[in-house]
Amino acid sequence: MIQETVSRNYWTLTMIISSLKTSVAVLAFIGLHVSALDSFIAAVYEHTVILPNKTETPVSQDDALFLMNKNIDVLERAIKQAAKQNAQIIVTPEDSLYGWTFTRETIFPYLEDVPDPQVDWNPCQDPHRFGHTPVQTRLSCLAKNNSIYVLANIGDKKPCNSHKSVCPPNGYYQYNTNVVYDSEGKLVARYHKYHLYSELQFDVPEKPELVTFNTTFGRFGIFTCFDILFHDPAVNLVEDFLVDTILLPTAWMNVLPLLTAIEFHSAWAMGMRVNLLVANAHNVNLNMTGSGIYAPHAPKIYHYDMETDLGKLLLSKVDTHPRISPVYPPAVNWRAYATSINPFPVQDTFRGFVSRDEFNFTELFGNSGNITVCQKELCCHLSYRMLGKEKNEVYVLGAFTGLHGRRKSEYWQVCVMLKCRTMDLTTCGQSVETALTRFEMFSLSGTFGTEYVFPEVLHTKIHLSPGRFECLKDGRLVNKNGSFEPILTVSLFGRWYMKDSLSTSGEIRSPTVTYLLISISLIIVVLPSIVMV
Ligand SMILES: *[C@@H]1O[C@H](CO)[C@@H](O)[C@H](O)[C@H]1NC(C)=O
Ligand SMILES: *[C@@H]1O[C@H](CO)[C@@H](O)[C@H](O)[C@H]1NC(C)=O
Ligand SMILES: *[C@@H]1O[C@H](CO)[C@@H](O)[C@H](O)[C@H]1NC(C)=O
Ligand SMILES: *[C@@H]1O[C@H](CO)[C@@H](O)[C@H](O)[C@H]1NC(C)=O
Ligand SMILES: *[C@@H]1O[C@H](CO)[C@@H](O)[C@H](O)[C@H]1NC(C)=O
Ligand SMILES: *[C@@H]1O[C@H](CO)[C@@H](O)[C@H](O)[C@H]1NC(C)=O
Repeated sequence: MIQETVSRNYWTLTMIISSLKTSVAVLAFIGLHVSALDSFIAAVYEHTVILPNKTETPVSQDDALFLMNKNIDVLERAIKQAAKQNAQIIVTPEDSLYGWTFTRETIFPYLEDVPDPQVDWNPCQDPHRFGHTPVQTRLSCLAKNNSIYVLANIGDKKPCNSHKSVCPPNGYYQYNTNVVYDSEGKLVARYHKYHLYSELQFDVPEKPELVTFNTTFGRFGIFTCFDILFHDPAVNLVEDFLVDTILLPTAWMNVLPLLTAIEFHSAWAMGMRVNLLVANAHNVNLNMTGSGIYAPHAPKIYHYDMETDLGKLLLSKVDTHPRISPVYPPAVNWRAYATSINPFPVQDTFRGFVSRDEFNFTELFGNSGNITVCQKELCCHLSYRMLGKEKNEVYVLGAFTGLHGRRKSEYWQVCVMLKCRTMDLTTCGQSVETALTRFEMFSLSGTFGTEYVFPEVLHTKIHLSPGRFECLKDGRLVNKNGSFEPILTVSLFGRWYMKDSLSTSGEIRSPTVTYLLISISLIIVVLPSIVMV
């Protein structure tokens, strides 16, 4: 009896344990399943592009392919490594396969005809369907063989339709192009860059393309480099297509104080409240470095390296749908606070320049204070408390509202607190990379006319401080969690797209106008000036 009871109890226990095991397994499965939907692993690769030996005279198609394959060899190692660490997608930089200094003629041997993804093509499985496409085939196979989504930037050539009145002399449009292959190798996205930056080798597509694709780990949008400064397609993708994550290949030359890659890209992700995966090309001589994985509430991981010539793979877990994440930041009314208070006393104001833009500056005299500086309708307010002002460092608060730079096409509104290069006030706004002054508290706001404002905080030696500042709903950019690294700049970088002087819409900007503009800028722009000014 006793034995029977024991054995029955044993049996019951076994049942309980095994059902427990099952439920644990089920729970584990659900857990896995949910986490697969909740987040994914993203990768970006900063690539040191192997540049061609000559770009002033055309090379053969074979030589061009030889160089591109050398670059893809490097990308292949990064892709394999990313896949091994369970990344679901990897972004590689703009111009990764051949660099940037070309004419229309010398880039031509590097181009392939990239079909519309609607044709449903897997180049790895069907390499000859669209003629000679060795680069597309290899990239597709890399995605397929490693079961990972791959974004690459390549050159597309499209024969002109005969009915088109304007056709480049060689009979082809040439486009700076992003392609995305899914984890089976299928082409799922193609995007032609719209806002070219001194890229005489490429054409501007007729209108901005809005390119998205859906995956089990969220909806994606893509554009390229300089596009991020404009409304179309960048803002459309976020606001009208509600993408979760933007993929941005770039060849971004850093310009202090406002436009270093990590600084601006992390700020854009926060201001637009979207995930942003940025892969920059790496070239120390051109100040090209700075890649990252940026979430709406804070940067996840970033890389900035002016010391070595090495490439760098970054990986991070990212929310699949940031909008439903508990850490999703609230919408900000960028002018609410600034328009609700009386301006702080305006002290001595002086003029200064950040690149070509004329700012109004006022000096931060004391260790703490409340100050305001205005330019036209834009007033910038700053409250601050320094931990200890370094004797030989000068900080100013600046305001700028107007058309930016020498092109005078983009309308900017900027409130910035920055460290001047030296004690001489005429150096305020010039590039400076180190600082010693720490702040215990800062709060910056401005009476912006635009709702597109990007909050930047840059620390000494070009560092970010994830999680150490935030934007309040009323538009104040404030520090969080006490004091931290010495500050180079704290800024609210506003873009008032409606006031841009050139319409960015392709309906107005015909190819003729584009060629005219290119010619004009050729005359005005003294090369080399691929700089992001
Ligand atoms: C460039 O020149 C070097 C040295 O002459 C040579 O080893 C290399 O293969 C060339 N690269 C390409 C892409 O032709
Ligand atoms: C992909 O795998 C196939 C077969 O395993 C191999 O033949 C091919 O070279 C691989 N391609 C790439 C780009 O890794
Ligand atoms: C992605 O899915 C949404 C619906 O969830 C759909 O509206 C959209 O058209 C899809 N986009 C693409 C490119 O398939
Ligand atoms: C790189 O940055 C430094 C310091 O900001 C600047 O002096 C230099 O001109 C830049 N180089 C290029 C090629 O833009
Ligand atoms: C501030 O900026 C405006 C517009 O550029 C200018 O007219 C004004 O003189 C500036 N103030 C000072 C003190 O420089
Ligand atoms: C700045 O203003 C705040 C209130 O807005 C006040 O508490 C603080 O004492 C002021 N600081 C200085 C240095 O005037």
